[in-house]
Amino acid sequence: VEKTFLMIKPDGVKRQVIGDVVNRFERRGFELKGAKLMVATREIAEAHYAEHADKPFFGELVDFITSGPVFAMVWEGESAISLARTMMGATKPADSQPGTIRGDFATTISENIIHGSDSAESAEREISLWFAGELA
Ligand code: GTP
Ligand code: MG
Repeated sequence: VEKTFLMIKPDGVKRQVIGDVVNRFERRGFELKGAKLMVATREIAEAHYAEHADKPFFGELVDFITSGPVFAMVWEGESAISLARTMMGATKPADSQPGTIRGDFATTISENIIHGSDSAESAEREISLWFAGELA
């Protein structure tokens, strides 16, 4: 089994889709290992998105992710990392299929409801970053 880090972004919290998103992962058979509503500091947001530090949209991305509470979660299950990415849908709105989280709730590339780890390395890094020493 794998653990993955998922986060409902400020747009998703404002639009009150936490319950819907959590329900999808529960129904799929994943187990919730940790969750918290929090406002991310710039420090944690910049560390989280460090791979995008030299992209033109980095400043906007950090502004957005720190603009209100996020709902940070750790989920565990068989192939949790890749299955969660599939359930999230594609980053580009034109490619995110109906039935996926982004395909059902988002129309823009910047405000796209949810983040999910994209590899085992990212999952480990992100879980340590957001839940340092906090998981049972
Ligand atoms: P995350 O799960 O949030 O990491 O999304 P992703 O893995 O599907 O996409 P990626 O890591 O490539 O990009 C990270 C985030 O940056 C995306 O979710 C978008 O919110 C944002 N982003 C990506 N490309 C663009 C862009 O061209 N413009 C803007 N404004 N934001 C972008
Ligand atoms: Mg990413």
